[in-house]
Amino acid sequence: MNLPNYVKIVEVGPRDGLQNEKAMVPTDVKVALINQLTEAGFVNIEAASFVSPKWVPQMADGADVMARIQRRPGTLYSVLTPNMKGFEGAVAAGADEVVIFGAASEAFSQKNINCSIAESIARFEPVAAAAKDKGIRLRGSISCSLGCPYQGEVPVSAVVDVVRRMRELGCDEIDIADTIGVGTPGKVQDVMRAASAEFALDRLSGHFHDTYGQALSNILASLEVGISIFHASVAGLGGCPYAKGATGNVATEDVLYMLHGLGIHTGIDLEAVVRTGDYISQAIGRTNSSRVGRALLTKWAAASEATPACA
Ligand code: HMG
Ligand code: MG
Repeated sequence: MNLPNYVKIVEVGPRDGLQNEKAMVPTDVKVALINQLTEAGFVNIEAASFVSPKWVPQMADGADVMARIQRRPGTLYSVLTPNMKGFEGAVAAGADEVVIFGAASEAFSQKNINCSIAESIARFEPVAAAAKDKGIRLRGSISCSLGCPYQGEVPVSAVVDVVRRMRELGCDEIDIADTIGVGTPGKVQDVMRAASAEFALDRLSGHFHDTYGQALSNILASLEVGISIFHASVAGLGGCPYAKGATGNVATEDVLYMLHGLGIHTGIDLEAVVRTGDYISQAIGRTNSSRVGRALLTKWAAASEATPACA
């Protein structure tokens, strides 16, 4: 296999991971989470959303979160911005990258952002122009690229169409998102290959939710066709408020373990991420969904019990 030497992981736990939590996660906990992730070495962290607080109440404190985190030079802190109102909030908060998020499925576009795909592109136009004007990095995310909870099958041509429109808007990076985790490796390769006919392969990313347990396989399949940017969520946190039953993103710890095992560099300290996964799981009272996280925590606990107390 001809795999890349380096892979960029975009840590999306603070946004995608937490947005679906029913109980409000205290701002302090969000800030501590992002600070720990920064320390672990991520170069890109999706920190918040500037969306309607009526639609996603959990993300209402985005400005506070952004104001209080300790930023590390070299790390980009990204935020979701569905419209100009979100963009203005993002600029005021000093976001390094804004994310416009659309869908390859009309039904999901309506449920998630209350407009058609064509309307969403029209809303993104001023956001994209303003981001370019201010020199802020622009990322486009395409939900339901492997299937839709409302529509079912999503044709590859529909994904490619949105990739083209996002490229025309000037996106620096485009995410192929499997919102409900239904994709399988062959289909993922087909979509990635087709998308790369419209957009540079090294600026396409894979955003895989792990609902059907396919995410790691889909990452390996994507690596095989040349993708080298992946999104992941510490402790496998998450779900989408507008995709019922969808579980979190692939766990960052599991992705790092696989990549490092393949000899691929990420610049991220796996053990630090495992400790962060333990922290956030305990802080929000959730089972840690990372297999690697649970395995290493159990191993470390057993090793510390086996160590005799100081004589
Ligand atoms: P709308 O109701 O059509 O918008 O929602 P509107 O322009 O009519 O505004 C309605 C109200 O929201 C107004 O307030 C606006 O001021 C306010 P009111 O006058 O009623 O008091 N508002 C805002 N407030 C703060 N920030 C804003 C903002 N915009 C309007 N930016 C809208 C349209 C897009 C705003 C709404 O549908 C929305 O916020 N949706 C967000 C959905 C969301 O965040 N989903 C989860 C993230 S996407 C995701 O998880 C998928 C991803 O992970 C990839 C994958 O896995 O697929 C990225
Ligand atoms: Mg997602």
